[in-house]
Amino acid sequence: MPVRLCRLADIPDGQARGFTTDGPADSGTAQRRLLVARRGGRVFAYVNSCPHVGLPLDWQPDRFMSPDGTFLHCATHGARFRVEDGFCVHGPCAGRSLTPVPVALVDGAVVVTDTDGATAKG
Ligand code: FES
Repeated sequence: MPVRLCRLADIPDGQARGFTTDGPADSGTAQRRLLVARRGGRVFAYVNSCPHVGLPLDWQPDRFMSPDGTFLHCATHGARFRVEDGFCVHGPCAGRSLTPVPVALVDGAVVVTDTDGATAKG
């Protein structure tokens, strides 16, 4: 069953928000941290775990963007990722990518589509 995270309007355009959900039913993961970035009417979601050493990207809750607002940014060592595909263009994990999470917009809500029986925790 898809999991509703928030309304699209709850994510300011050009920004990103973090969420915690149950892991996908077949993953063996109890919980996972996600981030959802908004570009106009489109959203892009990734597991909130830097491919460098696995830390969350945000240094404060929901602070995911580089200072110029262009890239997703890992606060720990400065890796920068393209919003549209999660590819790291700069930093210690350059050439690697964030793990994408399938999301869709349903009636104005951001919905994770790869979970089964999971729930969002904010
Ligand atoms: S943990 Fe993200 S760049 Fe090192």
